Amino acid sequence: MPFTTTLSESPRPEAERAAILSDPGFGRYFTDHMATAEWVPDGGWRDFRVRPLEPFSMHPGSGVLHYGQEVFEGLKAYRHADGSVNLFRPDRNAGRFARSARRLALPELPPELFLEAVAELVKADRVWVPPHGDEASLYLRPIQFASESFLGVRPSATSTFCVVASPAGAYFSGGVKGIKLWVTTRYTRAADGGTGDIKCGGNYAGSLLAQTEAQQQGCDQVMYTSGPADRRILEEAGTMNLMCITADGELWTPALGTILPGVTRESVMELASEHGLDVREREITVAEFLAGVESGAITEVFATGTAAVITPITALAGEGFDLVVGSGKPGTKSMALREHLLGIQQGDVADTRGWVRRVC
Ligand code: COI
Repeated sequence: MPFTTTLSESPRPEAERAAILSDPGFGRYFTDHMATAEWVPDGGWRDFRVRPLEPFSMHPGSGVLHYGQEVFEGLKAYRHADGSVNLFRPDRNAGRFARSARRLALPELPPELFLEAVAELVKADRVWVPPHGDEASLYLRPIQFASESFLGVRPSATSTFCVVASPAGAYFSGGVKGIKLWVTTRYTRAADGGTGDIKCGGNYAGSLLAQTEAQQQGCDQVMYTSGPADRRILEEAGTMNLMCITADGELWTPALGTILPGVTRESVMELASEHGLDVREREITVAEFLAGVESGAITEVFATGTAAVITPITALAGEGFDLVVGSGKPGTKSMALREHLLGIQQGDVADTRGWVRRVC
């Protein structure tokens, strides 16, 4: 597929870019370019371009604005000590993006085109990849949406693909100090047969009020529960998968089904055995979770996600409880897993599994 690159004639001045890279936060700034492509019924995918970042011009009747037919991904590029720029497991995101599109009746973008678009954008914006070290990276956000203007409820006949990039530091400003989750019994994230196992904007639109409730309760993020009537099973947090470590050396994480199959979740599960942990993907009830935290049978709790990496959960609250996990400090095993994972991502620890893909 021919891919054309047109570089911006007015990139952000170097001094401004350097100031941004010294304290990027998460999702606040965008780079100078974007990658785009279109899908049309008579030709399929076409017009793959990297071009200067600019607003979309969109018909108010576009399907995405009415029925939320949209999917997205999140992945990161890291600068290694040798100056090279490398993606972490981009093939996993490419595959999930296509699965998400299929579930929302959008045309699937072949994974090799997804990978090429991401790589070409990273090359054009290479100066935006933060320096080696810390956990700073260039966060890539591919999206795909319904672009046809039509008000009937049916899949859009046309679709737009786009990747934007944003330099990123820690997702939570408290970051590695640990965060507090609000276990909601009011809101459900997903149901069997729904869209909980894919990455679509609608899942997150529905989460915003639950997240607001969590913050009103003095917590950093919501923790969802499920179950037909009593919401007694743990699912995932607002933007992250959940994991706990037990005193007898097990790592528990909710089984797949209605939760997002996270790339960081999957990677941590693979690394766990090197940390002496036996992985158990299983149903975790709220009752056993709370009892385990209270008794000390669960010693550490953390959450995983591309944006959040590994974020320690040091406190939990919900209707009728307010608990500290372990000593109230990030757990040693979670932090060792975090260091291991970040080490691979940043090129400081040997990549024995072929997870790292060099771009430039
Ligand atoms: C990610 O971790 O990449 C996500 O997509 C979660 C969130 C920022 C929406």
